Parts: sequence; C-alpha cells; structure tokens
Amino acid sequence: MTGPTASPPVRPWWHDAVVYQVYVRSFADSDGDGIGDLDGVRSRLDHLAGLGVEAIWLNPCYPSPQRDHGYDVSDYCSIEPAYGDLDTFDRLVADAAARGIKVLMDVVPNHCSSEHPWFRAALEAGPGSPERARFFFRDGVGDEPPNNWRAVFGGSAWTRVDDGQWYLGTFSPYQPDWDHTHPDVADHFEQVLRFWFDRGVEGFRVDAVPPVGKAPELPDQPPGPPGATDEELALSNPFATFRPEGHAVWRRWRRLTDRYVDEHPGREIVLVAEAYTPRRPDLLLEYARPDEFHQAFAFDVLLSPWRASELRQAVGDQLMLLHDEGVVPTWTLSNHDVQRTVTRLGRANATDPASYTGSALRYVDAPVDLELGRRRALAAIAFVLALPGSVYLYQGEELGLPDWLDLPDVARQDPVFLRTAGAFRGRDGCRVPLPWTADPAGAHGFSPTTGAAPWLPQPDDWGRWAADAQAADPDSTLATYRALLAARRRFATGNDARLVDLHPDLVAVRRGRLVAVLNPTPEPVRVGDLLTVGDVVVATERSAARGTIAPDATIWVAAVDATSPNGGGPARVASPR
Ligand code: NOJ
Repeated sequence: MTGPTASPPVRPWWHDAVVYQVYVRSFADSDGDGIGDLDGVRSRLDHLAGLGVEAIWLNPCYPSPQRDHGYDVSDYCSIEPAYGDLDTFDRLVADAAARGIKVLMDVVPNHCSSEHPWFRAALEAGPGSPERARFFFRDGVGDEPPNNWRAVFGGSAWTRVDDGQWYLGTFSPYQPDWDHTHPDVADHFEQVLRFWFDRGVEGFRVDAVPPVGKAPELPDQPPGPPGATDEELALSNPFATFRPEGHAVWRRWRRLTDRYVDEHPGREIVLVAEAYTPRRPDLLLEYARPDEFHQAFAFDVLLSPWRASELRQAVGDQLMLLHDEGVVPTWTLSNHDVQRTVTRLGRANATDPASYTGSALRYVDAPVDLELGRRRALAAIAFVLALPGSVYLYQGEELGLPDWLDLPDVARQDPVFLRTAGAFRGRDGCRVPLPWTADPAGAHGFSPTTGAAPWLPQPDDWGRWAADAQAADPDSTLATYRALLAARRRFATGNDARLVDLHPDLVAVRRGRLVAVLNPTPEPVRVGDLLTVGDVVVATERSAARGTIAPDATIWVAAVDATSPNGGGPARVASPR
C-alpha cells in the first residue's frame, strides 16, 4: 500500500545548532571603559553571522560585584550597568534575530552574590528569621563550622557572620547558596526564567547544576582520598552534589518551560545543564531527560587525552545516549573555565592519560607547542562538527587563540587564583580580551582607540591572531572555521551516526553519507579504500601520501550521491596552510 510520503519530523533548532559563547566582558568594548559590553556584542554580530552560528550564549550579564565575573548575581532581572541596560539587551536580541541568531542566557541557580538584597536582608534579620531560611544558615559546633564541607575555590564552604551563625557558599564566601526548598526561592527563579523568555531569550545554559540541592541534615562528608584538593572534595561531596533535591528543582523548571512553549507557539526554548560528569554517561542521563534538561554538555572530549581510545570512548558514550535514550549530544571543546584548546592540545603531555585530571580547573603543566596545538585543535573541532548534536564554540576559538599562560600574576582576577594564593593559576588566561584588529590601537580593536586599558591585559603578540587579518586570509583559522560550518550544514545531517572500526589509531564516525575520520597520532595512517568511495570534502591537513590521513588531522569523506543534482561533489576543501 502506498500513501503520501511522510516528511521527516522537524527537529527543534537546537538539535544541530552551532552556538557561540560570548564572554561579554572580553568580547568587545563599545564605550571605552576597557570592559566588554552588550553594544560591543551588537557591533560584532556580523562576524558571528559570517561564521554561520545559529545562536549565542551570553555569560551572565546581570548586575554583579564581579567577584566571579558575573557568577555572583545581585539582581537576576536586570543588566550589569557596565554592560548596558535592558534596552541595550532588547536591541541585541532584535539585531541578532535580524541575522537569524538566537540568544541564550546563563542562569546561576546554586548561589547569588553576597550583595544580593535577599542575602543582605538575611544578614540583617538575624538567626531564626524567615529571611535566613532562603539560604543555608546554621549554628556552628563550638567555634567550628557546622560541618566539614570544602569550597570549590578553596577553604571551608562555611563563613561565620557577626552574630556567630555560619552560611554555606559552595564556591566562595561571596557566593551564598540558595535553599531551593524555600518557596520564595522556587518562585523567584520561575519569575526569572519567564522574565527572560518574555524578552525573547530562547534558552539558558544553567550554571553549576550538580551542587543545587543539599541533603537536609547537611552531614559531614566522608574523607576524600589523600591529597584531595578542596575543589575535588566539594565536587564529590555526596551530600551536596547530584542530589535528588536538585532534580526536584529541574523538574519544576522543565514544567514551566514546557508550559511557556505551549502558550507561545513558535518558541523552542532549550535548557542546557552545566554538569561535569567525567566518564559517567549514566550521571549525565540523570539531567538530560524528558522531564528535566533538554541537553547537558558532553565535557569528556574536552577532558580527554589526545588519544584514539579515550576520544572514541568519549564520542561513543554520547552516540550511545543519542541512540538508546534520545539525548541530543552537546559538544564543546572550550569555554571560559578551561585552558584554550590550542594550548591544551599543544602541551607535551596532551597524549598522556595521567594528565587527565577530570577537572577543568587543574592541568599538569608541560611545555606547549602552539603549532601542534593549532593543528590538533582544528582536527578536533572538524571532527566534532561532523557529529549529530549541537556544538558550542567559545569566543576566540575561531581565531585559534591560545591561552595566555604567562599573564602576570598582578593582573590575575580569577577567584581560583586569588583564593588558592596562586596554587592554581585559574582561568584568566582564556578570558583575555579578543584581538579584532592587527593594529594594536584600542587593545587591538577591543576598545575604541581612545579607550581605557582593557580589564585584563593582552600579550604583546596578540595581533598575530587578529580577526581582521584572518578574515582576509583564505588559509586562516577563521576561514577554516567558516568553511567547516558551511560544510556541516551541507553534509553533516541526520541522527544516524555510528563509530566505525577503521583502524585502532583512528576515531571514525559514519553519519549517513558522511564518514569523518580523526587521526590523533603523529604519523600518517592508511585509511584503505575509504578515500576511493567518495569525495574528501574536508581535510584539516593535506596528506603527503595517497590513501593516508595526515598526522593530527581530520578528513570528511562524503559518499557520492547519484541523486543529488551536482553529484554531491566537494563543497570546499578546508585545508589551511
Ligand atoms: C561554573 C561557571 O562556568 C564558572 O565560571 C563559575 O565560576 C562557577 N560555575 C560558579 O558559578
């Protein structure tokens, strides 16, 4: 029996979206105060449209004392004055929409700023008050804190106030934790989500998901392994992470979001969880599920040593979740918390499994070969862009920016550095203001030429990576990113993706007509017949010998499709330098 041909189900936009992360403070400064702002983002939207991204994710741009650069929020329904105001924000959403770009925000539910009015009121109101019940205030044990919990940025998770009580701050004393079991807190966040949905925000990256929700009795945590850092202890505390109390919050958020979408036809809102679940796809699945988050970042590729076996595992886990559970992967190689990819993969120990710490904040230092890092970073992103799911890029990644490891200590501002007395270098090196122009004036075009010095200095050679010079160079990293995104739109479609066993040293995926192959080794590897069955549509390095894939390179081979009008021939071979 024949009937009308069923058209494939239309997938929400975020299923295959490339999302560009804007760390507002370091993106572009429109008014010359040395701090990036929303008008700065507006002024550079054409760069993002030219790159071909579907959405931007803005790091927190709410009013904040900036002790953790916006992850210490003092008002969830307004804009940080240094970044603009609500009108600027509305203009940004409209200008982005005019270019087909959606705007995602970053919401911080685990904690606020110690300057938040509700926390100030709690301090004033004293022990036992309803104001204190919105946070975790407790009496200590003699002069000791209520329990042995540690803070992610170092020290005890408890801070004593003048009247002798203590409050909980999982990250730092200036980020007090909310108690989401309190109805005021639950209502407040529902209002916050609606407030931004109403302004056209199409989703949220949800910050620090695992620590939301605590065991009610707040018991001591078991001792960690010898030498465990405060960060490791805090993030493995069974009474303060991955709690059922947290899941109750996400289910509420999802109900609200689904209701909102039902009430607003045409809207497709996405909630993406930031939850580091190293090598635990089962834990990721606790968040990415039909009644909680639409997606949860797949951090394992980012955390993986540069070796086929580990990379294959990291990719395979996500494809397994996609096929078995319908979880749409959320790939990312970089963000504002980790060493930039070029530097990370250029480290002499990048292939060493012992350099895998499972933590984005800590690295085992080693000499860095930036040219090697550049090749590997391109190979990595080219591979990831072939995969089903969304891909999050971090600003400056498309320019091939390295981390500034030698940023002078006096300039460092990250609480990770400040609260560990420099024991951990922290994250400032990946947050250096972007170089837009090769001309050094105005911090390489980050600020107007008459502007103040940028909030973090730039290294002397920053012009080497300037966007304007790269835009004019067809072999630049920027040009390659553009070509890769275009190739993705054309060739990387459909959810039917599987790992294929081409060679033990390679990572290979077949997705419909496309086969993407990554060679993470320093030697060319023979790929047999593969190169004869289709066209090489992407190659991040030229292969010196026929039938092989170059060292530290990715290729895409598209099987020739006789039904396509142009025979499915090459779009453009992305083959820089
Ligand atoms: C994760 C954010 O990405 C990071 O920048 C921040 O410091 C912590 N959460 C605390 O909010």
